[in-house]
Amino acid sequence: MNPEKKGVFPPARVLGIETSCDETAAAVLENGRCLLSSVVASQMDVHARYGGVFPEVASRQHIRTIYSVIEQALLQAHISLSDLDAVAVTRGPGLAGSLVVGMNAAKGLVLGRGLPLVGVNHIEGHIYSAWVYPAEAGSPPPEPVFPLLALLVSGGHTELILIREHLQYERLGATLDDAAGEAFDKVARILGLPYPGGPSIQKAASEGNPRAFNFPRARLEGSWDFSFSGLKTAVLRTVRALQDEHQAVPVADLAASFQAAVVDVLYQKTMKAADQYRVKEILIGGGVSANRALRETFLGQESYRVHIPPLSLCTDNAAMIAAAGYYRYALGQRDPLDLDVLPTWPLS
Ligand code: KG4
Ligand code: ZN
Repeated sequence: MNPEKKGVFPPARVLGIETSCDETAAAVLENGRCLLSSVVASQMDVHARYGGVFPEVASRQHIRTIYSVIEQALLQAHISLSDLDAVAVTRGPGLAGSLVVGMNAAKGLVLGRGLPLVGVNHIEGHIYSAWVYPAEAGSPPPEPVFPLLALLVSGGHTELILIREHLQYERLGATLDDAAGEAFDKVARILGLPYPGGPSIQKAASEGNPRAFNFPRARLEGSWDFSFSGLKTAVLRTVRALQDEHQAVPVADLAASFQAAVVDVLYQKTMKAADQYRVKEILIGGGVSANRALRETFLGQESYRVHIPPLSLCTDNAAMIAAAGYYRYALGQRDPLDLDVLPTWPLS
């Protein structure tokens, strides 16, 4: 990339393609922010019967749907391929067999049209969902201001990232064991709630008392890392003890108390890091940022402006890939046609 280009953001229409896990997605974004279309074909029903994502099934589903999803995204944006300036695609991290489907679709398009190819990190995509707004909104909401602190909470990642300017990341901390979303999914299974666990726990928690059980909060003082496996084990032990005593398992109270513990740790740590690194704003992204308790907690404070994507952009989508791809394109990134996928790819 060309650092000389910093701050020069030309008008451009970018097609984003995302197939890192179990959503087949395509989107068209204008000038890095204005969303003309976003199509997400979820495989949730297919994987629900396995209680989680089945990698081989996921890649075959992507093959079946990718071209119609791209076609829909172009149709809904009222444009054709010749109106595009670049194609951005998720290069990793994710399931190898899923990533290659999106990558090959992107390569087919850029080869046929002579367009630039831009590979994007999926985690970076979640961060850039904060820049996206729907075209129907008319005027754009305020753009995130650097330096920013990003809390990235998804099924595979839990990270605190300091962002001093576009595409410059310093990872302050990450989970040492389960990701926050993974903890939601695993605890949902323990409580007999359906996949995916995050929305199921949220629903059950809405009827429960968050103070019913005082579950442990791993504060890990002196580091910006997280740990959720102790909390998960505490829920499991509580359920087993109740079952051994032939008592009813209060699912709603357990879900609410677990959710409160996760939100508490994420909130306390993020606020502390924001103060210490003197950031201007906070940004939250990833599937768990759809959680109502988490959103209300962050939006309820007045120390920092907090950017949280609308619900449709919290979980995996291609608008976020197009947004990150736009800034990479604007700063001169052009990837070769032999670009490989990276199933493991830390952001910084
Ligand atoms: O970002 P995402 O769609 O995929 C990954 O990149 O991992 O995140 C999926 C994760 C799942 O673990 C899911 O249970 C969690 O996000 N999730 C939620 C909620 N909606 C999705 N967790 C808590 N509350 C929610 N409402
Ligand atoms: Zn994701």
